[in-house]
Amino acid sequence: MSRPDASLLRHSDALEVHWPSGKVSHLNFLWLRDNCGCEECRVVQTNEKRFMISDVPVDIAPLAVSLDGNRLALVWPDGHETVYDGADIEAAYAPDSVKWTPWDRRFSPSRYGFQAFLRDDSAASAAITEFLDTGAIILQQAPAQPGTLESLAPRLGPIREVLFARIHDVKIDPSGYNVAHTSNALPPHNDFASYSWPPSVQALHMLVNEAAGGESVIVDGWNVLNALRERHPGHFRALCDTPVPFREFDDDNETYAVAPLVRCDGDGNILSLRFSNQLMQALDPGAPGVGEFYRAYHALCGLLTADDAKARFRLDGGDILIVAAHRVLHGREAFAAAGRRHLQDAYFELDNVRNHLVVLQRKGAHIDD
Ligand SMILES: [Fe+2]
Ligand SMILES: [Zn+2]
Repeated sequence: MSRPDASLLRHSDALEVHWPSGKVSHLNFLWLRDNCGCEECRVVQTNEKRFMISDVPVDIAPLAVSLDGNRLALVWPDGHETVYDGADIEAAYAPDSVKWTPWDRRFSPSRYGFQAFLRDDSAASAAITEFLDTGAIILQQAPAQPGTLESLAPRLGPIREVLFARIHDVKIDPSGYNVAHTSNALPPHNDFASYSWPPSVQALHMLVNEAAGGESVIVDGWNVLNALRERHPGHFRALCDTPVPFREFDDDNETYAVAPLVRCDGDGNILSLRFSNQLMQALDPGAPGVGEFYRAYHALCGLLTADDAKARFRLDGGDILIVAAHRVLHGREAFAAAGRRHLQDAYFELDNVRNHLVVLQRKGAHIDD
């Protein structure tokens, strides 16, 4: 059994482990019990957890602990034995934060061939990796066929459906429900702010673009928010704290959600920006903080619509712009209504895109074996 060991220090609810590498871990007793990897605590077939934390007392503490190299062994009061490999514990530590590269007007999305993206796993891996870093890529030489966005589902999908349509047509339509169906300029925005979880990935497929004007505009919303936070932390807080209503509707459809414009994780990393001038509804004028919110919103609008924030380029027929929609806003300049211009939109979810990349990398690792 175990003997006192300088590499193990017992605290009231945690074990302090000094690994041979010199690293030190503080491991809570409930954490140590909960993550036991033995066959009794797991569903062997699926490697899912079977053990339920409430089956042991909340003040559980190991009777005995020992460290042999990187092998940490514990015996619990009911006789259950748990063994950890140091590498497994190392792997459980969360990365500092997800890395992403901020950009401004000088940015130009990387371009990849549409067919290569669909057929070649390494091309798809490269494109998705770039997409996760910058939040925007362009696939080029896609067919000018309506519905082409369906074929992206194996790489990005499944398609995230919302009301109105599965694949959305953006062209001049006198009966359209949205300013996108006119030839007007569209200020930077993300789509469907009127959902409590707006689509987190948007693909914009230009089928034909013979209209003068109508340059596409994208903005790195997270980069703008970080600049705002640095200069005016109070403004940033107001944007995180004030619920704002959004609505998009027509005779047959109604979408409505109330949420703050900015959402962060517990460490203050930005998770999402929700911004749509066209869909935003009147705030409750009697709610506390309306004045603070509006001063912050004024500053945010100024930064998001400033030339310095806008990366501009023309989408030609066959180009598909894909944006990480909780980060990157899209818009366009006004265009001449005379020329043909037809765009289709479809939505996906970033979780799925990220996880497709994990599977691609796993496949690639097997091939290299
Ligand atoms: Fe849009
Ligand atoms: Zn176990």
